Amino acid sequence: MANIVKIQDGYSFLPRAEATLLEALESENIAMEYQCRQGYCGCCQIKLIDGDVEYQEEPLAFVQEGHILPCCCKANSDVTVALPQPLTELQQRKASA
Ligand code: FES
Repeated sequence: MANIVKIQDGYSFLPRAEATLLEALESENIAMEYQCRQGYCGCCQIKLIDGDVEYQEEPLAFVQEGHILPCCCKANSDVTVALPQPLTELQQRKASA
């Protein structure tokens, strides 16, 4: 069963169980920073306010205390994360087809 992801000062959602945290945030139309998507660069780093995450492989990038790399982890409990910018600035506008 998937765990709830809460965005600090935002809302909560239920990600697909197989999705990484980055994929889960992207599926909510939140434009996250990333480069490698494999735990090497550290570009995607965000603050974990509450909860636990699980890395399938230990990331090589330096991770600050209290931060996580959402590109290569999944929520291991209900989690609360802080985004690097206000949610409204990170929400992507859906392209009109
Ligand atoms: S995108 Fe490179 S560590 Fe997450």
